[in-house]
Amino acid sequence: MRIKSIIKGTGSCLPEKAVTNKDMEALVDTTDEWIVQRTGIHQRHIAGDHETTSSLAINAASRALEASGLTADQIDGVIVATTTPDLTFPSVAVHVQAALGIPAGMAFDVQAVCTGFVYALSTAHSFIQSGQAKNVIVIGAETMSRILDWEDRTTCVLFGDGAGAVVLGVNEDETSQRGILSTHLYADGAHKDILCTSGGVSKTKSAGVIEMQGREVFKHAVTLMHDVVDEALKANDMTGADLDWLVPHQANVRIISATADKLGMPMEKVVLTVGDHGNTSAASIPLALDVAVRDGRVKQDQMVLIEALGGGLTWGAALLKF
Ligand code: ACO
Repeated sequence: MRIKSIIKGTGSCLPEKAVTNKDMEALVDTTDEWIVQRTGIHQRHIAGDHETTSSLAINAASRALEASGLTADQIDGVIVATTTPDLTFPSVAVHVQAALGIPAGMAFDVQAVCTGFVYALSTAHSFIQSGQAKNVIVIGAETMSRILDWEDRTTCVLFGDGAGAVVLGVNEDETSQRGILSTHLYADGAHKDILCTSGGVSKTKSAGVIEMQGREVFKHAVTLMHDVVDEALKANDMTGADLDWLVPHQANVRIISATADKLGMPMEKVVLTVGDHGNTSAASIPLALDVAVRDGRVKQDQMVLIEALGGGLTWGAALLKF
């Protein structure tokens, strides 16, 4: 019998400080109207000096653990998707492991920028399916504000900070169909330069800031999201009509609605948090999922599709019966 991995609990954490588009108008030459019209973003949360990727990840993970009904000693893996770790090493994952009192087991970070959570979830799912782990905390956590050029209006208005987490574990109920049905991961390094940072540890000894050819990224995002959601549905003999929820990476409401259109899904079936959170990169999907679980929209046994695209380019999707 094939082992199924299910989401046993979700959690999230946003920095205390919310920065509105009006606040951004005081920083760069922009308007609330431009930002809302092009992206759907109204505000984003920005980490204060006392907040780091690890502190946000620890809070999100601790809430997910509580929601799962499991205890720290039952967790045998921590995987964190992040592009903005506190330190070059050790990983954010070991910070979470130590803070939550999780016993020795695997703990590591994955880096696939905005697609990071889909990559991390797929990795955890593979460990569970192969019998190497039973319960893995999978986190997307970012402080994107730390790698923004706050004088570049083309990027600084787009991003935010936050963390989301799920506890992924073995579905012990053999009669239940719940679980991850398939994951689909891609990268194409030919497009590595259209979304990148201006520096990094080995090249410049500093993190650099985000540089993006927005229009190019937009164009690829619409096409690649179409292709990957199609592939996920076909792999499971489904159509958009079989889906209860689309929980997309929250970069831009126009990209999201193009994907929903392709799936034939009304926007009421799309979990949309980009307006309040901005683009939190790897954190955006688990953050959105937690919001929709806690407000009662996403329920057990519903069919959920997640998808993302980010720097690399990387992209991917996962279909799951929640
Ligand atoms: N306020 C006001 N005007 C602005 C701003 C701003 N914040 N930013 C750019 N503009 C101006 C530009 O200078 C340009 O002016 P010009 O015509 O005088 O030269 C004009 O607005 C249009 O600029 P474009 O870049 O062509 O605007 P576009 O309609 O493409 O929207 C956007 C820009 C929102 C970035 C869009 O291209 C987009 O969403 N791209 C995808 C981004 C994305 O999905 N990223 C996801 C991955 S992120 C990650 O992986 C880390």
